[in-house]
Amino acid sequence: MPQPLPVRPARPDEVAAASSGADAGIRINVFELAGGQAFFDSLVDRFYQGVESDPELLALYPDRDDLAGARRRLAMFLAQYWGGPTTYSEERGHPRLFMRHRPFRIDAAGVDRWLRHMRAAVAELAPPAPVEARLLAYFDMAAAAMRNTE
Ligand code: HEM
Repeated sequence: MPQPLPVRPARPDEVAAASSGADAGIRINVFELAGGQAFFDSLVDRFYQGVESDPELLALYPDRDDLAGARRRLAMFLAQYWGGPTTYSEERGHPRLFMRHRPFRIDAAGVDRWLRHMRAAVAELAPPAPVEARLLAYFDMAAAAMRNTE
């Protein structure tokens, strides 16, 4: 059984490494650098616009007629992961993302579709370069780890 993803907020030293010049050493996390909850809400909104335009990907979503709940869960999770409020875990418990994706048949093509929409959402919001690099690296790694079928 694959190991669950290591889900944790960024450490301050990792975050400091993502900033430079006058910011170096200041304890700012990616959540704050990105623009707080409003950034993650917009990111997830744009991502789900992509999902809604993609029938093959949308077919995986149990509540495909009303994605408000799915939007909220992803936005809360991402905010928490990047150092924001811990509402996700308060409402949902430990993320255990791989386990939570088991009911959905996620193959390599599904991972590509998911990533395409998330990359487009990140590009549209154009966060500061160090934030963008970290988000994209994380999404590449985590989406690939969610694959549960050939
Ligand atoms: C970076 C990679 C990913 C992250 C961080 C992520 C995150 C999440 C989170 C937090 C939830 C809600 C879990 C819960 O509390 O119940 C969720 C649900 C879901 N994810 Fe993902 N996911 C990722 C990749 C994928 C991929 C690659 C697919 C399919 C190709 C996918 C399909 C779904 C579906 C169908 C749901 C159910 C929607 C719902 O919450 O009702 N996810 N995902």
